[in-house]
Amino acid sequence: MAYRIEEMISEEDVNNRIRELGEQITRDYAGRSVRLVCILRGAVFFMCELAKRIELPVTFDFMSVSSYGSKTTSSGIVRIIKDLEEPLTGEDVIVVEDIIDSGRTLSFLKDLFRSRGAASIRVCTLLDKPSRRAPEIDIEVDYKGFEVPDQFVVGWGMDYDQRYRNLPYIGVITGLEEE
Ligand code: IMP
Ligand code: MG
Repeated sequence: MAYRIEEMISEEDVNNRIRELGEQITRDYAGRSVRLVCILRGAVFFMCELAKRIELPVTFDFMSVSSYGSKTTSSGIVRIIKDLEEPLTGEDVIVVEDIIDSGRTLSFLKDLFRSRGAASIRVCTLLDKPSRRAPEIDIEVDYKGFEVPDQFVVGWGMDYDQRYRNLPYIGVITGLEEE
């Protein structure tokens, strides 16, 4: 294995940014409660830290979807692996994602949650790779931690072939194409 992982965003920078996102959400939803929907497995670390920074009544739910056919390329097909446990009717939903790439996963989820009667749906993602957005996808990212270039990142919940989710910083994989 010829690839390497280099630090792209430090643990401290991620934590500081999550604190800001939490403060922003607290202001935007003042007087309401929010349902955080964590998209498993990548968004787990982000969701936990974010939830602690939101000073409002918060409830959680978890969903697992799969959009990836191979290690690093999107198949474009979204499959529900594990569905939500609570109804979304009338809830102010914030979908919590690790990273938005083509945007197909999120577009699918927003349509689904709308059809299930959520009162409002916003998106909070730790990372966004806007240069990778699929041409047919037009989604608004309401809250984002950082924009990143078109490189494969790991850590803070994100994996390469299920590894490196536990890295406390955000790293970038280099040298993959040499394999
Ligand atoms: P999308 O449907 O193409 O936007 O795919 C989003 C999902 O792909 C994310 O929730 C991640 O699970 C995965 N993904 C996309 N880019 C990366 C990356 O650079 N590192 C790790 N996972 C990624
Ligand atoms: Mg994911």
